[in-house]
Amino acid sequence: IIKKIKGIEILDSRGNRTIRVFVETEGGIKSFGDAPAGASKGSREAIELRDSKGGVKPAIDSVNYFINDALRGFDVRRQEDIDRTLIQLDGTDNKSKLGANAIIATSIAVAKTAAKALGLEIFQYIGGGRKHRIPVPLLNILNGGLHAGNNLKIQEFIIIPLKFNKFSEALFASTEVYKQLKNLVTEKFGKIYTALGDEGGVSPPLNKTEEALELLSDAVKKAGYEGEFFFGMDAASSDFYNEKEGVYEIDGTKKSAEEMIDYYSELAGKYPILYLEDPFNENDFEHFAELQSKLKNTIITGDDLYTTNVKYLKKGIENKSTRGVIVKPNQIGTLTETYEFFDTARENSIKTVISHRSGETEDNFIADLAVGLNSDFIKTGAPARGERTAKYNRILEIENEYEIEYGNKNII
Ligand code: PGA
Ligand code: ZN
Repeated sequence: IIKKIKGIEILDSRGNRTIRVFVETEGGIKSFGDAPAGASKGSREAIELRDSKGGVKPAIDSVNYFINDALRGFDVRRQEDIDRTLIQLDGTDNKSKLGANAIIATSIAVAKTAAKALGLEIFQYIGGGRKHRIPVPLLNILNGGLHAGNNLKIQEFIIIPLKFNKFSEALFASTEVYKQLKNLVTEKFGKIYTALGDEGGVSPPLNKTEEALELLSDAVKKAGYEGEFFFGMDAASSDFYNEKEGVYEIDGTKKSAEEMIDYYSELAGKYPILYLEDPFNENDFEHFAELQSKLKNTIITGDDLYTTNVKYLKKGIENKSTRGVIVKPNQIGTLTETYEFFDTARENSIKTVISHRSGETEDNFIADLAVGLNSDFIKTGAPARGERTAKYNRILEIENEYEIEYGNKNII
């Protein structure tokens, strides 16, 4: 039974303030949940409450006054009732009254406290009767777009260790590629460009997408893993879409959506691109579909396109827009809605990617979320920076402790 819910201000990995919520039961069981924060957000995301200086005092007030009052006395295991109560209490479409940051941190804290009260691992509690699976990591090791200061328009260049038998082997091989990438960047451009971006990737002074993919290929080769890694990209293309002219500004040129289809197809012909996120702007369900039907071997994935919202996912399913979805709990605001979104994707044979945000905390909850829900992939940055390694280390811990299969077999 919930006795008290309390929010405090803490720091995220960018040094911005965010909210941590503690839930405490009558029996003295206590745990917390944190709200992460995005930089390249989708326009349909739930809204976080902040004050004019970027602090989250308004969200703290939501928790300490309204949410604490409304949820006191609830059985902490009644996640769905609690989440529905939060949704009702907020009463808006986008969680802008109480704040999505206040709500998601509470929702996560409730789940973690319930698991603790039951003496279960968080992934076991979340998973219920599901089969568990260790997700395949999508490691973003080279940055462009809004996450970097170079001229690359594509936001994330990702390596995918699919051909390994265990998560630990896959992850450690990935770190070797990552180190070789740093060596190459140091040789070619100087050590200063190995400084880490928000998600732990390097951001060398490159101008064109292909130069980045070439560098990744060289790093994989140098590490001795030629042919064993696939590549992925998060274009986050709403950020280089010129809405007025209806063109994408990339590699020093302007391209129409049709030209972007050729552009991506050419890259996929040259490099083993298994994964491509947000290749078109967040309203263009049709061109997503056209590209997906053309690139059958690539998992075209919607992040800003769906913002973890079932309403837009249904539109994507109707249009056959993508074979993959990004799942970010703070985009929608409660775990119950996150599960609904995840299950809708699963029922439609769409690949799932549980994802961090570029602004994270050291909480490793999404690792348990991915294992518990039996997700295909997890996306949690480079194998560096404490807030990213916290998630990888938690999965290593789970793999070591439990016999759960590495989920690389059902991807292709
Ligand atoms: P964000 O970006 O967390 O800064 O929004 C991550 C992504 O686009 O996947
Ligand atoms: Zn994205």
